Amino acid sequence: MYRWAWYVINTRSVFYQSEQSEYLSTDEPDTLALAPFLDLLNHSPSANIKAGFNTGTNCYEISTSDTYKAYDQVFICYGCHSNEKLFLEYGFCVPGNCNDTVEVLYDDILKACNHFSIQHLSKKIALLQEHGLLKSLMCTNEGLSWNLLSVLKVLVMDWNQLQIWNQVYTNDVAFPDIIPAAKKLAHWILQQYLAENTQHMKHVEKIISNDDNPQHVTIARQLISIERDILMTSFQ
Ligand SMILES: C[S@@+](CC[C@H](N)C(=O)[O-])C[C@H]1O[C@@H](n2cnc3c(N)ncnc32)[C@H](O)[C@@H]1O
Repeated sequence: MYRWAWYVINTRSVFYQSEQSEYLSTDEPDTLALAPFLDLLNHSPSANIKAGFNTGTNCYEISTSDTYKAYDQVFICYGCHSNEKLFLEYGFCVPGNCNDTVEVLYDDILKACNHFSIQHLSKKIALLQEHGLLKSLMCTNEGLSWNLLSVLKVLVMDWNQLQIWNQVYTNDVAFPDIIPAAKKLAHWILQQYLAENTQHMKHVEKIISNDDNPQHVTIARQLISIERDILMTSFQ
C-alpha cells in the first residue's frame, strides 16, 4: 500500500518549493506538489518546455517551444532521465532515448590496464586524477564518451607521448597509433560487459514467473537490449 501511494505521488508531482508543513516531521525541504491536469502530461526526452510557478498569475505554468498540430499529444520532459531511471521511477521506457548510457567503471579500466601491462600506470592515473578527467566514463548511443576515449588515449601513451599528453586534444599527428591502441583497451572492457549483459538476459528469462506484470517483463528485456545496443555501437 505504501509503495502504491509513493508511486502515485512520485510519478505525478512537480518540483515546487513551499513553506515547511507543520505536519511534516522532517528537516528535508518540502518540494513536491500535485497539480490537476498538469499530471496528465506524458514524457518525451526531446520535449522543449519551460515550467514553473508564476507568482504574478498565481498559477503553475508550462509552455512548449515545440510545434504541434491540433489534436496531437503534447509532451513535457520529466528530466534527462535514462530508460533505467524512467522504468524504476515511472514504470515505462522510451525507444531511442538519448539519455541512455552504460557507465564504464574505473576498476574495469584498471583491470584492462593490468591485462595489457600498461606502462607508467601510477603516473598516468595521478595525471588523470589531477586534471579531473576520471569522470563521465561511459558509452552512449554514439559510442565511447569523449572523456572515456581521452582517458584511454592517455593510458596507452608511451613515455615520450606522455610528456606532451595534453596535445592529445588538439594534435592527432603527434599520436598516430594511439586511437587503435585506446580502442583495443576499450574492446577488452566492452567484451566483459557484453558477456555480463548476456548473463543478465539469461538470468531475467530464468526468474520470470507467470505472476509478473507482462509489461514490466517486456521493459526489463528492453533495458538489457538497449544496454547491448550501446555496447555494440561502442565497439565500432
Ligand atoms: C504524470 S503521469 C502522465 C499521465 C498518465 N499517462 C495518465 O494517463 O494519467 C506519469 C505516468 O504516465 C505514464 N507515461 C508518461 N510518459 C509516458 C511515455 N512516454 N510512454 C509511456 N508511458 C508514459 C507513466 O505511467 C508515468 O508513470
